[in-house]
Amino acid sequence: MKSKWTLIGYVLWGLSVAVQGQDCTSGGCHAERGSKAVVHVPVEEGDCLACHEQTKRNHPGGRGREIGLVAEEVVDICTTCHDLDLEDEDLHPPVAEGSCLACHDPHESDLNSLLKGSRAADVCGECHETGLEGKEFIHGPVAVGACDVCHSGHGQVSNTLLRTDGVNSTCYQCHELKAEEIASLVNQHAPVEESCTNCHNAHESDTKYQLEADVPDLCLGCHSEIDDQISSATSHHQAVESGKTCLNCHLPHGSEYEKNLKAEPFDLCMQCHNKPLKIGKTQIPDMEKFLEQNPDWHGPIREKNCAGCHNPHGTKNIRLLKYSFPRKFYAAFDVENYQLCFQCHPSENVLDSSTTRLTNFRDGDRNLHYLHVNREKGRTCRACHQVHASTHSFHIRAAVPFGGWQLPINYEKNDDGGRCSPGCHKPQTYSRSSGP
Ligand code: HEC
Ligand code: HEC
Ligand code: HEC
Ligand code: HEC
Ligand code: HEC
Ligand code: HEC
Ligand code: HEC
Ligand code: HEC
Ligand code: HEC
Ligand code: HEC
Ligand code: HEC
Ligand code: HEC
Ligand code: HEC
Repeated sequence: MKSKWTLIGYVLWGLSVAVQGQDCTSGGCHAERGSKAVVHVPVEEGDCLACHEQTKRNHPGGRGREIGLVAEEVVDICTTCHDLDLEDEDLHPPVAEGSCLACHDPHESDLNSLLKGSRAADVCGECHETGLEGKEFIHGPVAVGACDVCHSGHGQVSNTLLRTDGVNSTCYQCHELKAEEIASLVNQHAPVEESCTNCHNAHESDTKYQLEADVPDLCLGCHSEIDDQISSATSHHQAVESGKTCLNCHLPHGSEYEKNLKAEPFDLCMQCHNKPLKIGKTQIPDMEKFLEQNPDWHGPIREKNCAGCHNPHGTKNIRLLKYSFPRKFYAAFDVENYQLCFQCHPSENVLDSSTTRLTNFRDGDRNLHYLHVNREKGRTCRACHQVHASTHSFHIRAAVPFGGWQLPINYEKNDDGGRCSPGCHKPQTYSRSSGP
């Protein structure tokens, strides 16, 4: 049963068509067309018949209510005016398939490009999970549903439909300052050059800054060698395992220093080692002050190369040392114990019992390094040398911790040898030219 008002409408329509010929809008039937922000040009021009057939079939008096269109397939109508290459195999499937109306309203829209719905995300969300539910951090443009600021509906699938050629240039459209900042870095982190989405999710994330995972897991996902160092370590560094972890020392995008470090390595270490620090109950000294007070710096310290001996990520040796070094004052001799020193100094120093050239610590040709170190109850290097810096030449200690006591060494050097009167034995003198 048609209502009385519908019937009256039909009559009025008939009259208006009769009076106005083919004008579909001004007769009161489709008067609402053209009221939205963006109106399709042929609609605006009242050229309904560019797409519609005014047939009996689709209008009052006809046999049905279907909309009469000038062609069987909508896409064939659109392509009479729009030149699109739908054969391109890399094209977004719904475009290639000619499903123009999946995304576009043929008449008008409040969105750019005649997109349907009130946000681009409504259109895309018909076929794609927008994944926004339950995520804590949603990227600004995604949160407002503006999928189309980054993606083009007609883009290449191989380029993820991005509007620009590649991910980074997409990001830089808005993050201009970041672009300048990254371009100015001397050393860029390899994955940054490759794609921001190696670490950031362009849409949403459970982690601050749109990250794919928290630091350090994010970093360790690619840097398995560092993961191995940390997980196999017996000597751990709090700097790596707490607070900002990796970002205590590294920058994520690159740096003006090598290895993406935040500062010169030496200065970086001193940012924390400028005060006494605690490892459990043991206190380790303020390195900055120690180096100030001991002006005779060991070679690698002069080169500011703390990493020559330490691996700040963690190691299997005491004190984050890269290679073995005895923990105590005495140790049964094994050359393997001294790998650290022998990275840079010759091991013959402690392997040959007599020499006239390997070491100056000799009495005639009697090698006093061999004598002290190479034995069942050997004195380790630390018994005499201060490894970072000292006030005495050859980094000889003023005193050495022994039991709870600072055992004095009282070393005096002369042109031909030296003399010490340590707490361990009676005063001794050595002379390279005369010997024992
Ligand atoms: C560019 C082609 C095109 C033009 C121009 C056009 N239409 Fe349409 N129209 C369509 C298509 C395609 C559909 C089918 C929409 C669907 O199936 O969702 C349609 C559907 C309709 C419908 C039924 C569904 C609806 O959206 O209300 C009416 C009524 C309509 N058009 C009226 C008009 C009038 C009036 C004009 C002129 C002011 C006009 N159209 C101009 C393509 C066009
Ligand atoms: C009679 C010719 C004609 C037909 C048929 C036609 N269009 Fe258009 N369309 C135009 C003109 C003219 C413009 C405005 C100039 C331009 O952008 O090319 C336009 C613009 C558009 C725009 C851009 C709107 C904007 O504001 O950015 C879209 C999207 C569009 N048409 C989609 C379609 C779709 C989908 C169809 C098929 C349902 C279709 N057109 C059929 C003539 C036509
Ligand atoms: C009618 C369904 C449909 C609509 C609507 C749709 N898409 Fe797609 N889209 C597909 C299909 C099908 C594919 C190919 C299969 C796939 O890779 O998921 C695809 C592929 C994509 C891809 C490439 C996927 C990849 O893995 O690289 C992107 C990006 C994309 N669409 C974005 C969008 C955006 C943005 C919108 C809204 C403007 C949108 N799509 C609307 C169906 C649709
Ligand atoms: C800020 C830019 C931006 C916005 C906004 C955006 N995307 Fe993306 N989208 C990307 C980037 C970048 C990629 C990944 C490209 C890569 O890593 O190769 C991507 C990937 C995709 C993919 C491929 C599958 C995947 O998840 O990796 C689909 C589908 C997609 N986006 C759909 C959408 C939809 C739907 C919206 C709106 C809700 C949207 N995008 C909003 C930038 C954006
Ligand atoms: C998956 C959604 C989607 C489908 C399907 C789709 N379009 Fe689009 N179209 C868009 C989006 C989004 C834009 C906005 C401009 C852009 O992203 O490049 C657009 C823009 C346009 C434009 C404006 C001109 C331009 O290139 O900027 C025309 C014309 C157009 N589409 C016609 C069509 C026709 C014809 C079809 C069917 C063959 C079609 N579209 C299918 C999403 C789609
Ligand atoms: C259309 C503009 C636009 C594009 C394109 C864009 N962003 Fe954003 N981005 C924003 C806005 C807006 C915010 C939120 C405001 C803010 O916090 O700065 C944001 C925030 C972010 C944040 C968090 C910043 C913070 O301080 O919390 C990151 C990280 C980010 N974007 C990365 C990216 C990456 C990676 C891409 C490329 C895949 C990208 N953006 C592309 C507009 C954009
Ligand atoms: C190797 C992983 C990685 C890559 C690749 C990466 N980022 Fe980041 N980004 C991060 C991390 C980690 C943070 C968080 C920094 C923090 O917590 O201080 C971040 C933070 C940000 C921020 C917000 C904070 C800030 O520094 O302003 C923006 C914006 C940003 N990145 C943009 C980008 C852009 C653009 C790209 C691509 C050119 C990119 N990122 C590539 C790891 C990465
Ligand atoms: C997507 C994988 C990936 C992620 C995530 C990643 N990196 Fe990298 N990183 C690389 C690649 C690839 C290189 C270059 C390796 C090479 O040259 O041998 C590299 C190099 C480095 C370097 C050495 C740089 C140089 O100049 O030699 C450091 C340091 C570094 N990354 C730290 C980090 C930190 C810290 C994080 C977490 C914020 C991180 N990386 C996240 C892939 C990644
Ligand atoms: C206490 C400071 C510090 C922390 C924390 C730290 N690093 Fe490093 N990292 C360094 C220094 C210093 C170097 C340079 C070492 C060298 O030159 O031998 C370095 C080098 C690297 C390298 C390059 C290795 C190579 O052989 O070139 C990678 C990769 C790296 N770090 C990743 C990480 C990751 C991942 C984290 C977090 C789990 C992390 N770092 C935490 C100080 C640190
Ligand atoms: C972010 C602060 C921080 C930075 C930067 C830092 N450290 Fe540390 N470091 C500590 C703290 C805290 C401890 C004591 C707690 C612990 O690690 O167990 C420590 C302990 C150490 C230890 C003794 C570890 C042990 O188990 O005996 C060494 C060696 C060390 N750091 C070397 C370095 C070197 C070399 C650098 C520079 C590459 C550096 N640190 C940079 C905070 C830092
Ligand atoms: C020539 C190798 C070498 C270099 C270079 C080196 N260290 Fe050490 N470091 C050691 C050795 C060996 C120990 C263990 C000393 C001990 O147990 O008496 C140690 C111990 C430490 C400790 C633990 C506290 C202590 O004094 O026992 C810290 C902290 C430390 N080093 C920081 C640094 C910093 C910071 C640098 C760069 C300024 C640096 N080291 C350079 C060999 C070195
Ligand atoms: C990374 C390389 C390196 C490591 C490891 C190293 N040294 Fe050195 N050492 C040097 C350099 C370089 C000099 C300075 C040589 C010069 O000035 O001619 C030096 C000088 C010395 C001197 C003073 C020599 C002189 O002529 O003034 C002594 C003593 C010394 N080292 C002991 C040690 C001990 C003990 C170890 C093990 C804990 C060690 N070194 C580990 C590089 C290293
Ligand atoms: C008993 C004390 C003592 C012990 C233990 C000791 N040294 Fe020495 N070392 C000295 C003295 C004294 C000199 C200065 C010799 C001179 O020039 O008169 C010296 C000098 C050196 C030099 C400078 C080059 C040379 O041989 O003349 C190096 C390198 C060195 N020692 C490394 C080591 C290493 C490595 C160890 C542990 C394996 C070690 N020392 C153990 C007392 C010791």
